[in-house]
Amino acid sequence: MKRILIAAGVFSLALGFVSCGGAKGDDPGRAYMPDMYYSRAYETYGYNDVEGEFDSLKRRGINYTGVPVPGTVARGEMISYHLTNDSAGLAAANSLKNPLDSMAATKAAMREAERLYLIYCGVCHGDKLDGNGPLPAGGAYAPVPANFTAPNIKALSDGHYFHVITYGIRTMGSYASQLTPEERWWVIKYIRSKQGGGSTADSTATKAATDSTKK
Ligand code: HEC
Repeated sequence: MKRILIAAGVFSLALGFVSCGGAKGDDPGRAYMPDMYYSRAYETYGYNDVEGEFDSLKRRGINYTGVPVPGTVARGEMISYHLTNDSAGLAAANSLKNPLDSMAATKAAMREAERLYLIYCGVCHGDKLDGNGPLPAGGAYAPVPANFTAPNIKALSDGHYFHVITYGIRTMGSYASQLTPEERWWVIKYIRSKQGGGSTADSTATKAATDSTKK
């Protein structure tokens, strides 16, 4: 009797699993004519050998690969960074100006800049900009992040900051894949607003905006 009960239990459990794994959830079931449901994707920057398309172009003397030429700037994006990752590039960066300085920063823009700073920089450099973020404070991270409130770090140019975010420096890594060039300039603007009179003085608009974002 007991065995029969156990067998019945196992059977009903198995039945339960099978019935759950069936047509429930987002399973669309069987696709009739899958070619119509799932189109063959054409990857913008990938190699798309759709029936030898590029080969036939080449035979006609047209050198087109589908890949944009180096230095191409996407619509709406800031011009890409032209300085190289070496000491000459770092020195040349000093002459760059923050392109956002010519426009008034809205409250929302500065709030977004703060958000980006706290995600990508604050974890090391700290929400007080003192270089004592949760990562170094926790003791599991050996390198010592720069203290943005220290006079020598404050004195570094906006371009130097941009170069450091783009390529990293010594023990700090690059944040180029996390932040677009424009976002990098916003983060720098945020840091400047918190440093209180860095190498580029704040516009009154920025100051008012950051004052009102203070908690
Ligand atoms: C994972 C930790 C970490 C994060 C995140 C980080 N940094 Fe750093 N940063 C460092 C360390 C460590 C140094 C010191 C590098 C050295 O001198 O070896 C440093 C140094 C710097 C310096 C000084 C460079 C110099 O020339 O002395 C600047 C400027 C800087 N970081 C900006 C930023 C900005 C802006 C962000 C956010 C986009 C950021 N860092 C995110 C760890 C970090």
